[in-house]
Amino acid sequence: MRLLSLISLAAAAEAGTLSPPQHIFSNPPSLSSSGRRIPTPYESAVLGRRILALTPLGNLATVFPADDAGGQYGTEENRPDGLGGMPHSLMDYVADCEDEGNPTFLAINIETTFKNVHDGSNVSLAQQWTPPYPPDKRIKSTTTSSTPGLLSRLMNWLGLGSDDDDDDDSEPPEAVPYSAANLPRFSLLGYMEKIDDVSAAALSECFVKKHPDAKYWLPGNRIHEAEFVRLVVQQVYWVGGFGDRAYIGWISVDDWKSVTREEWEGVSLPGEKKGWKEWSVERAGDL
Ligand SMILES: *[C@@H]1O[C@H](CO)[C@@H](O)[C@H](O)[C@H]1NC(C)=O
Repeated sequence: MRLLSLISLAAAAEAGTLSPPQHIFSNPPSLSSSGRRIPTPYESAVLGRRILALTPLGNLATVFPADDAGGQYGTEENRPDGLGGMPHSLMDYVADCEDEGNPTFLAINIETTFKNVHDGSNVSLAQQWTPPYPPDKRIKSTTTSSTPGLLSRLMNWLGLGSDDDDDDDSEPPEAVPYSAANLPRFSLLGYMEKIDDVSAAALSECFVKKHPDAKYWLPGNRIHEAEFVRLVVQQVYWVGGFGDRAYIGWISVDDWKSVTREEWEGVSLPGEKKGWKEWSVERAGDL
């Protein structure tokens, strides 16, 4: 049933999606008033689980402990006083090794992020979908045009490119991928939990597959104390794109966790294949 309704998303995606958005950062008051079928929260969860499975990086937010006293942390001698309660967000490597909706991290205990976790902080992981291919037509700004370097830079950034980075350096590539405001992203809220040592070998294999350089700081390495942890997801906030065509709001954690591999493998995200249209919701069943 669920897969079927996902497939019907494709038809919704075909139907007139190139017009400017009417509701950008919220859903319309009545979902049917936009004239488009907006994906349900469950369908959005399926898309989100695909993003989690395919996206190697994310921003991990923690909070400094209320009683943070600055300089007591050996490797951070110059940590300023008065950070207690401040949020802290930094890029980290993400993997999806358990395939149950709880992202996998390789925690390095001297990192500020994991120090905060150690001090009891909850965490939030933000990830966004970055299409590997550019759309057929881009929404042009009046001052710049897209440069040939963009795709190869992006592919390299995603770890998918070749090393022929000898393109002309006359113009820097555009920093923002396409119409990013209309691309799906999410934030997972919860806490970190150490993963049982018995699965360390399997986790290492999974993690290094996504992050080859991480082999140098796997648990047991001689440089840093490290361990595998999972973000136990308790809440999910989703922005699927413009609100007149995508769901924006909270997704139930039960929905998030009950998505199966078969389901997230059965959908596609904007720009997974060449020839997509920038303002469209080609997400599901368009294989
Ligand atoms: C973490 O979040 C929970 C709510 O899920 C809250 O009860 C708890 O106080 C939070 N912990 C800290 C250290 O803020």
